[in-house]
Amino acid sequence: MKSLSITEQEAQILIKDFKTPVYVFDIDRISDRYTDIQQAFKNRYMASEVSLSYKTCPLMGVLQHLQYLGAIPEVVSEFEFDMANTLGSQRKVINGPNKTDRVLQQAILNHDIINIDHQEEFGRINTLAQSVNKKVEVGVRLSLDQGWNRFGFACDTHVWKQLVQVQSAHQHIKIVGIHVHIGTAIRDVKTFYQAADQLQNALKEWPFEWAIQWLDLGGGLAGISPKWEQAEIEYPVPDVEDYANAWIQPLQSILDIHQPLLIMEPGRTLFEPFGGLLSQVVTCREQNSTTQSLVLNAGINAVPTARVYRHPLQCAQGSNEVEQVASKQTTLYGPLCMQSDTLATDTPLPTLNKGDWVFVKGIGAYNQSRSVPFIQPRPGVVGKLNGEFMWLRQHETLGDHLQLECW
Ligand SMILES: Cc1ncc(COP(=O)(O)O)c(C=O)c1O
Repeated sequence: MKSLSITEQEAQILIKDFKTPVYVFDIDRISDRYTDIQQAFKNRYMASEVSLSYKTCPLMGVLQHLQYLGAIPEVVSEFEFDMANTLGSQRKVINGPNKTDRVLQQAILNHDIINIDHQEEFGRINTLAQSVNKKVEVGVRLSLDQGWNRFGFACDTHVWKQLVQVQSAHQHIKIVGIHVHIGTAIRDVKTFYQAADQLQNALKEWPFEWAIQWLDLGGGLAGISPKWEQAEIEYPVPDVEDYANAWIQPLQSILDIHQPLLIMEPGRTLFEPFGGLLSQVVTCREQNSTTQSLVLNAGINAVPTARVYRHPLQCAQGSNEVEQVASKQTTLYGPLCMQSDTLATDTPLPTLNKGDWVFVKGIGAYNQSRSVPFIQPRPGVVGKLNGEFMWLRQHETLGDHLQLECW
Protein backbone atom coordinates (compact mmCIF):
# COMPACT_ATOMS: atom_id res chain seq x y z
CA MET A 1 0.00 0.00 0.00
CA LYS A 2 1.32 3.45 -0.93
CA SER A 3 1.35 6.55 1.24
CA LEU A 4 -0.60 9.63 0.19
CA SER A 5 0.94 11.94 -2.38
CA ILE A 6 -0.83 14.38 -4.67
CA THR A 7 -0.73 15.17 -8.38
CA GLU A 8 -0.03 18.62 -9.79
CA GLN A 9 -3.66 18.84 -10.86
CA GLU A 10 -4.89 17.94 -7.36
CA ALA A 11 -2.56 20.50 -5.82
CA GLN A 12 -4.00 23.19 -8.07
CA ILE A 13 -7.59 22.20 -7.19
CA LEU A 14 -6.78 22.24 -3.49
CA ILE A 15 -5.07 25.63 -3.72
CA LYS A 16 -7.95 27.14 -5.65
CA ASP A 17 -10.92 25.60 -3.82
CA PHE A 18 -9.63 25.15 -0.29
CA LYS A 19 -6.66 27.55 0.12
CA THR A 20 -3.40 26.67 1.81
CA PRO A 21 -2.20 25.67 4.26
CA VAL A 22 -4.63 22.78 4.36
CA TYR A 23 -4.44 19.22 5.62
CA VAL A 24 -5.48 16.43 3.28
CA PHE A 25 -6.62 13.00 4.47
CA ASP A 26 -7.28 10.13 2.07
CA ILE A 27 -10.27 8.41 3.65
CA ASP A 28 -10.27 5.61 1.07
CA ARG A 29 -6.69 4.64 1.87
CA ILE A 30 -7.27 4.88 5.61
CA SER A 31 -10.28 2.58 5.16
CA ASP A 32 -8.19 0.13 3.13
CA ARG A 33 -5.49 0.19 5.78
CA TYR A 34 -8.08 -0.47 8.48
CA THR A 35 -9.42 -3.44 6.48
CA ASP A 36 -5.91 -4.79 5.87
CA ILE A 37 -5.05 -4.65 9.57
CA GLN A 38 -8.33 -6.26 10.54
CA GLN A 39 -7.99 -8.97 7.90
CA ALA A 40 -4.37 -9.74 8.84
CA PHE A 41 -5.45 -10.48 12.40
CA LYS A 42 -8.74 -12.18 11.54
CA ASN A 43 -6.97 -14.51 9.10
CA ARG A 44 -4.83 -15.74 11.97
CA TYR A 45 -7.38 -15.48 14.77
CA MET A 46 -11.02 -14.96 13.87
CA ALA A 47 -12.14 -13.19 17.07
CA SER A 48 -10.02 -10.09 16.37
CA GLU A 49 -11.23 -6.49 16.34
CA VAL A 50 -9.60 -3.21 15.45
CA SER A 51 -10.39 -0.31 17.73
CA LEU A 52 -9.65 3.28 16.82
CA SER A 53 -7.20 5.28 18.87
CA TYR A 54 -9.22 8.52 18.88
CA LYS A 55 -6.34 10.73 20.00
CA THR A 56 -4.35 9.81 16.91
CA CYS A 57 -6.80 11.40 14.48
CA PRO A 58 -9.89 12.92 16.10
CA LEU A 59 -11.65 13.96 12.91
CA MET A 60 -15.34 13.15 13.13
CA GLY A 61 -15.70 12.43 9.40
CA VAL A 62 -12.81 9.97 9.39
CA LEU A 63 -13.84 8.25 12.63
CA GLN A 64 -17.44 8.00 11.48
CA HIS A 65 -16.37 6.38 8.24
CA LEU A 66 -14.23 3.79 10.02
CA GLN A 67 -16.95 3.07 12.53
CA TYR A 68 -19.34 2.32 9.64
CA LEU A 69 -16.77 -0.30 8.66
CA GLY A 70 -16.98 -1.81 12.15
CA ALA A 71 -14.16 -0.17 14.10
CA ILE A 72 -14.78 0.38 17.82
CA PRO A 73 -13.60 3.60 19.51
CA GLU A 74 -10.66 3.54 21.91
CA VAL A 75 -10.95 6.59 24.16
CA VAL A 76 -8.77 7.95 26.95
CA SER A 77 -10.70 10.95 28.26
CA GLU A 78 -14.18 12.30 28.89
CA PHE A 79 -13.70 14.51 25.84
CA GLU A 80 -13.05 11.51 23.59
CA PHE A 81 -15.78 9.48 25.29
CA ASP A 82 -18.33 12.19 24.47
CA MET A 83 -16.99 12.39 20.94
CA ALA A 84 -17.61 8.66 20.51
CA ASN A 85 -21.12 9.03 21.95
CA THR A 86 -21.78 11.87 19.51
CA LEU A 87 -20.94 9.41 16.73
CA GLY A 88 -23.45 6.97 18.23
CA SER A 89 -20.86 4.33 19.04
CA GLN A 90 -22.14 1.16 20.63
CA ARG A 91 -19.28 -0.48 22.51
CA LYS A 92 -16.10 1.41 23.37
CA VAL A 93 -12.68 0.62 24.78
CA ILE A 94 -11.99 2.87 27.79
CA ASN A 95 -8.30 3.36 28.55
CA GLY A 96 -5.95 5.87 30.11
CA PRO A 97 -5.06 7.06 33.60
CA ASN A 98 -7.80 9.70 33.90
CA LYS A 99 -11.19 7.98 33.76
CA THR A 100 -13.77 10.23 35.38
CA ASP A 101 -16.67 8.89 37.43
CA ARG A 102 -19.13 10.04 34.76
CA VAL A 103 -17.29 8.04 32.09
CA LEU A 104 -17.01 4.99 34.32
CA GLN A 105 -20.69 5.14 35.34
CA GLN A 106 -21.83 5.21 31.72
CA ALA A 107 -19.24 2.66 30.65
CA ILE A 108 -20.40 0.24 33.32
CA LEU A 109 -24.02 0.52 32.19
CA ASN A 110 -22.99 0.25 28.55
CA HIS A 111 -20.79 -2.86 29.07
CA ASP A 112 -17.84 -1.05 27.55
CA ILE A 113 -14.40 -2.58 27.71
CA ILE A 114 -12.72 -0.88 30.67
CA ASN A 115 -8.99 -1.40 31.06
CA ILE A 116 -7.77 -0.40 34.51
CA ASP A 117 -4.58 1.63 34.59
CA HIS A 118 -3.77 1.93 38.30
CA GLN A 119 -4.72 0.76 41.77
CA GLU A 120 -7.07 3.61 42.67
CA GLU A 121 -9.38 2.81 39.75
CA PHE A 122 -10.29 -0.56 41.29
CA GLY A 123 -11.82 1.12 44.35
CA ARG A 124 -13.72 3.69 42.36
CA ILE A 125 -15.10 1.21 39.83
CA ASN A 126 -16.06 -1.15 42.64
CA THR A 127 -18.03 1.61 44.40
CA LEU A 128 -19.71 2.73 41.19
CA ALA A 129 -20.62 -0.86 40.29
CA GLN A 130 -21.98 -1.45 43.77
CA SER A 131 -24.20 1.63 43.47
CA VAL A 132 -25.94 0.08 40.45
CA ASN A 133 -25.83 -3.40 41.93
CA LYS A 134 -23.57 -4.87 39.28
CA LYS A 135 -20.43 -6.92 39.02
CA VAL A 136 -18.25 -5.30 36.36
CA GLU A 137 -15.87 -7.17 34.14
CA VAL A 138 -12.64 -5.23 33.71
CA GLY A 139 -9.28 -5.55 32.04
CA VAL A 140 -5.96 -4.64 33.64
CA ARG A 141 -3.15 -2.89 31.84
CA LEU A 142 0.24 -4.53 32.23
CA SER A 143 3.51 -2.84 31.39
CA LEU A 144 5.95 -5.11 29.61
CA ASP A 145 9.74 -4.84 29.37
CA GLN A 146 9.60 -3.29 25.89
CA GLY A 147 9.29 0.49 25.98
CA TRP A 148 6.65 2.32 27.97
CA ASN A 149 6.39 1.56 31.68
CA ARG A 150 4.52 4.49 33.24
CA PHE A 151 1.12 2.90 32.68
CA GLY A 152 -0.48 -0.14 34.22
CA PHE A 153 1.00 -2.76 36.51
CA ALA A 154 4.53 -4.07 35.99
CA CYS A 155 4.33 -7.53 34.46
CA ASP A 156 6.75 -9.11 36.92
CA THR A 157 6.69 -12.18 39.17
CA HIS A 158 4.46 -10.42 41.74
CA VAL A 159 1.73 -9.23 39.42
CA TRP A 160 -0.69 -12.15 39.73
CA LYS A 161 -0.41 -12.25 43.51
CA GLN A 162 -1.15 -8.52 43.54
CA LEU A 163 -4.16 -8.91 41.23
CA VAL A 164 -5.56 -11.87 43.17
CA GLN A 165 -5.48 -9.73 46.31
CA VAL A 166 -7.12 -6.82 44.51
CA GLN A 167 -9.74 -9.15 43.08
CA SER A 168 -10.67 -10.60 46.45
CA ALA A 169 -10.93 -7.12 47.99
CA HIS A 170 -13.39 -5.88 45.36
CA GLN A 171 -16.62 -7.87 45.22
CA HIS A 172 -18.11 -5.87 42.36
CA ILE A 173 -15.22 -6.35 39.98
CA LYS A 174 -14.17 -9.34 37.95
CA ILE A 175 -10.77 -9.21 36.23
CA VAL A 176 -11.29 -10.77 32.82
CA GLY A 177 -9.09 -8.81 30.43
CA ILE A 178 -5.49 -7.84 29.83
CA HIS A 179 -4.30 -4.70 28.09
CA VAL A 180 -0.82 -3.77 26.91
CA HIS A 181 0.55 -0.96 24.76
CA ILE A 182 4.31 -0.96 24.44
CA GLY A 183 5.08 2.31 22.67
CA THR A 184 4.83 4.02 19.32
CA ALA A 185 6.58 4.28 15.92
CA ILE A 186 7.94 0.74 16.28
CA ARG A 187 9.42 -0.40 12.99
CA ASP A 188 11.12 -3.64 13.93
CA VAL A 189 8.38 -6.24 14.44
CA LYS A 190 10.77 -8.25 16.62
CA THR A 191 9.84 -5.79 19.39
CA PHE A 192 6.21 -6.94 19.17
CA TYR A 193 7.35 -10.55 19.05
CA GLN A 194 9.36 -10.11 22.25
CA ALA A 195 6.42 -8.39 23.95
CA ALA A 196 4.08 -11.19 22.87
CA ASP A 197 6.54 -13.74 24.17
CA GLN A 198 6.79 -12.07 27.57
CA LEU A 199 3.01 -11.78 27.68
CA GLN A 200 2.38 -15.44 26.83
CA ASN A 201 4.83 -16.50 29.52
CA ALA A 202 3.04 -14.36 32.06
CA LEU A 203 -0.43 -15.47 30.94
CA LYS A 204 0.50 -19.13 31.44
CA GLU A 205 0.23 -18.24 35.13
CA TRP A 206 -3.22 -16.62 34.84
CA PRO A 207 -4.45 -17.11 38.40
CA PHE A 208 -8.23 -17.05 38.04
CA GLU A 209 -10.46 -20.05 37.40
CA TRP A 210 -12.28 -18.21 34.62
CA ALA A 211 -10.91 -17.63 31.13
CA ILE A 212 -9.42 -14.39 29.80
CA GLN A 213 -12.19 -12.63 27.91
CA TRP A 214 -10.19 -10.00 26.10
CA LEU A 215 -6.61 -9.45 25.21
CA ASP A 216 -6.01 -5.88 24.09
CA LEU A 217 -2.59 -5.49 22.50
CA GLY A 218 -2.61 -1.71 21.97
CA GLY A 219 -1.01 0.03 18.99
CA GLY A 220 2.58 0.95 18.26
CA LEU A 221 3.35 0.13 14.63
CA ALA A 222 5.24 2.84 12.74
CA GLY A 223 4.26 5.01 9.80
CA ILE A 224 6.42 6.26 6.92
CA SER A 225 8.28 9.19 8.49
CA PRO A 226 11.87 8.75 9.66
CA LYS A 227 13.08 10.43 12.81
CA TRP A 228 15.50 13.32 12.29
CA GLU A 229 18.50 11.19 13.19
CA GLN A 230 17.62 8.50 10.63
CA ALA A 231 19.03 8.66 7.10
CA GLU A 232 15.96 7.26 5.31
CA ILE A 233 13.90 9.75 3.29
CA GLU A 234 10.64 7.82 3.49
CA TYR A 235 9.94 4.35 4.87
CA PRO A 236 7.45 2.09 3.10
CA VAL A 237 4.07 1.68 4.79
CA PRO A 238 4.80 -1.14 7.31
CA ASP A 239 3.65 -4.63 6.43
CA VAL A 240 0.68 -5.74 8.51
CA GLU A 241 1.14 -9.46 7.87
CA ASP A 242 4.53 -9.45 9.64
CA TYR A 243 3.01 -7.36 12.40
CA ALA A 244 0.12 -9.80 12.93
CA ASN A 245 2.51 -12.79 12.92
CA ALA A 246 4.74 -11.12 15.49
CA TRP A 247 1.87 -10.82 17.96
CA ILE A 248 -0.11 -13.95 17.22
CA GLN A 249 2.53 -16.66 16.86
CA PRO A 250 3.85 -16.40 20.43
CA LEU A 251 0.34 -15.98 21.84
CA GLN A 252 -1.24 -18.86 19.90
CA SER A 253 -1.46 -21.31 22.82
CA ILE A 254 -3.03 -18.64 25.06
CA LEU A 255 -5.56 -17.81 22.33
CA ASP A 256 -6.36 -21.53 21.92
CA ILE A 257 -6.91 -22.06 25.63
CA HIS A 258 -8.79 -18.89 26.58
CA GLN A 259 -10.32 -17.86 23.22
CA PRO A 260 -10.46 -14.19 24.18
CA LEU A 261 -11.55 -11.31 22.02
CA LEU A 262 -8.31 -9.96 20.54
CA ILE A 263 -8.26 -6.18 20.27
CA MET A 264 -5.74 -4.07 18.38
CA GLU A 265 -5.53 -0.30 18.83
CA PRO A 266 -3.55 0.99 15.84
CA GLY A 267 -3.07 4.73 15.62
CA ARG A 268 0.01 5.97 13.80
CA THR A 269 0.19 3.16 11.26
CA LEU A 270 -3.47 3.60 10.35
CA PHE A 271 -3.42 7.35 9.82
CA GLU A 272 0.10 8.73 9.51
CA PRO A 273 0.89 7.66 5.91
CA PHE A 274 -2.44 8.87 4.57
CA GLY A 275 -2.49 12.46 5.77
CA GLY A 276 -0.46 15.35 4.38
CA LEU A 277 -0.29 19.12 4.68
CA LEU A 278 -0.37 21.24 1.54
CA SER A 279 1.48 24.51 1.96
CA GLN A 280 2.96 27.17 -0.32
CA VAL A 281 6.22 29.07 -0.44
CA VAL A 282 5.79 32.55 1.05
CA THR A 283 9.26 33.75 0.23
CA CYS A 284 12.68 32.65 -0.75
CA ARG A 285 15.32 33.82 1.75
CA GLU A 286 18.36 32.63 -0.14
CA GLN A 287 18.93 30.81 -3.38
CA ASN A 288 22.10 29.97 -5.26
CA SER A 289 23.09 27.22 -7.66
CA THR A 290 23.30 24.54 -4.95
CA THR A 291 21.23 25.61 -1.96
CA GLN A 292 18.02 27.40 -1.12
CA SER A 293 16.17 28.37 2.03
CA LEU A 294 12.47 29.01 1.83
CA VAL A 295 9.68 30.11 4.14
CA LEU A 296 6.40 28.17 3.93
CA ASN A 297 2.98 29.36 5.03
CA ALA A 298 2.67 26.40 7.49
CA GLY A 299 4.92 25.65 10.41
CA ILE A 300 5.38 23.37 13.36
CA ASN A 301 2.28 24.69 15.12
CA ALA A 302 0.36 22.81 12.40
CA VAL A 303 2.81 19.88 12.31
CA PRO A 304 4.09 19.46 15.87
CA THR A 305 5.32 15.97 15.02
CA ALA A 306 7.97 17.64 12.85
CA ARG A 307 9.96 18.21 16.02
CA VAL A 308 10.66 14.48 16.14
CA TYR A 309 10.07 13.28 12.58
CA ARG A 310 11.60 14.47 9.32
CA HIS A 311 8.44 14.15 7.30
CA PRO A 312 8.90 13.25 3.62
CA LEU A 313 8.22 16.04 1.14
CA GLN A 314 6.67 16.32 -2.27
CA CYS A 315 6.65 19.58 -4.19
CA ALA A 316 5.86 21.45 -7.36
CA GLN A 317 8.48 20.80 -9.99
CA GLY A 318 10.56 23.70 -11.31
CA SER A 319 8.91 25.67 -14.06
CA ASN A 320 11.34 24.61 -16.80
CA GLU A 321 12.98 21.31 -17.67
CA VAL A 322 16.44 22.21 -16.41
CA GLU A 323 14.97 23.14 -13.05
CA GLN A 324 13.03 19.88 -12.83
CA VAL A 325 16.20 17.84 -12.70
CA ALA A 326 18.28 20.28 -10.73
CA SER A 327 18.06 19.73 -7.02
CA LYS A 328 19.24 22.05 -4.29
CA GLN A 329 19.99 21.37 -0.66
CA THR A 330 16.94 22.97 0.85
CA THR A 331 15.97 24.35 4.23
CA LEU A 332 12.26 24.83 4.78
CA TYR A 333 11.18 27.22 7.51
CA GLY A 334 7.68 27.75 8.76
CA PRO A 335 6.19 31.24 9.22
CA LEU A 336 6.45 31.35 13.04
CA CYS A 337 8.72 33.63 15.00
CA MET A 338 10.93 30.83 16.26
CA GLN A 339 14.29 29.60 15.07
CA SER A 340 13.08 26.04 15.65
CA ASP A 341 10.19 26.41 13.21
CA THR A 342 11.93 24.28 10.61
CA LEU A 343 10.35 21.50 8.58
CA ALA A 344 13.39 20.40 6.58
CA THR A 345 17.15 20.92 6.46
CA ASP A 346 19.62 19.78 3.80
CA THR A 347 16.88 18.14 1.79
CA PRO A 348 17.30 17.91 -1.99
CA LEU A 349 14.38 19.66 -3.71
CA PRO A 350 13.99 21.34 -7.09
CA THR A 351 14.21 25.12 -7.24
CA LEU A 352 11.07 26.55 -5.73
CA ASN A 353 9.72 30.07 -5.81
CA LYS A 354 7.03 32.11 -4.12
CA GLY A 355 3.63 30.45 -4.56
CA ASP A 356 5.00 26.96 -5.36
CA TRP A 357 3.44 24.20 -3.33
CA VAL A 358 5.06 21.80 -0.88
CA PHE A 359 3.20 18.75 0.40
CA VAL A 360 4.40 17.53 3.80
CA LYS A 361 3.72 13.80 3.86
CA GLY A 362 3.20 11.34 6.67
CA ILE A 363 1.55 13.75 9.06
CA GLY A 364 -1.84 11.99 9.46
CA ALA A 365 -1.23 10.95 13.08
CA TYR A 366 -1.21 13.16 16.18
CA ASN A 367 -1.17 16.48 14.33
CA GLN A 368 -4.92 17.08 14.45
CA SER A 369 -4.89 16.48 18.19
CA ARG A 370 -1.65 18.26 18.98
CA SER A 371 -1.57 21.26 16.63
CA VAL A 372 -2.03 24.67 18.23
CA PRO A 373 -3.18 28.10 17.06
CA PHE A 374 0.19 29.70 17.65
CA ILE A 375 0.54 32.97 15.72
CA GLN A 376 -1.68 31.45 13.03
CA PRO A 377 -5.03 29.66 13.44
CA ARG A 378 -5.06 25.96 12.64
CA PRO A 379 -5.49 24.99 8.99
CA GLY A 380 -8.66 23.31 7.76
CA VAL A 381 -8.83 19.65 6.76
CA VAL A 382 -9.93 18.24 3.42
CA GLY A 383 -10.92 14.61 3.00
CA LYS A 384 -10.47 12.64 -0.19
CA LEU A 385 -13.26 10.13 -0.68
CA ASN A 386 -13.97 8.30 -3.96
CA GLY A 387 -11.49 10.64 -5.63
CA GLU A 388 -13.43 13.79 -4.54
CA PHE A 389 -12.18 16.42 -2.12
CA MET A 390 -14.50 17.69 0.62
CA TRP A 391 -14.20 19.63 3.85
CA LEU A 392 -13.69 17.58 7.00
CA ARG A 393 -12.96 20.66 9.09
CA GLN A 394 -13.00 24.29 8.02
CA HIS A 395 -10.03 26.61 8.51
CA GLU A 396 -10.08 28.05 12.02
CA THR A 397 -10.93 31.74 12.22
CA LEU A 398 -10.57 34.48 14.77
CA GLY A 399 -14.31 34.09 15.37
CA ASP A 400 -13.78 30.51 16.60
CA HIS A 401 -11.32 31.78 19.19
CA LEU A 402 -13.40 34.75 20.31
CA GLN A 403 -16.34 32.44 21.03
CA LEU A 404 -14.48 31.09 24.05
CA GLU A 405 -12.79 34.29 25.18
CA CYS A 406 -14.28 36.32 28.04
CA TRP A 407 -13.38 39.99 27.74
C1 LIG B 1 -3.40 2.86 24.99
C2 LIG B 1 -3.00 3.26 23.63
N1 LIG B 1 -3.48 2.56 22.58
C3 LIG B 1 -3.15 2.89 21.31
C4 LIG B 1 -2.32 3.94 21.03
C5 LIG B 1 -1.96 4.24 19.60
O1 LIG B 1 -0.61 4.06 19.44
P1 LIG B 1 0.10 4.18 18.02
O2 LIG B 1 -0.28 5.46 17.43
O3 LIG B 1 1.54 4.08 18.31
O4 LIG B 1 -0.38 3.02 17.20
C6 LIG B 1 -1.78 4.69 22.10
C7 LIG B 1 -0.86 5.80 21.86
O5 LIG B 1 -0.28 6.40 22.69
C8 LIG B 1 -2.12 4.33 23.43
O6 LIG B 1 -1.64 5.01 24.49
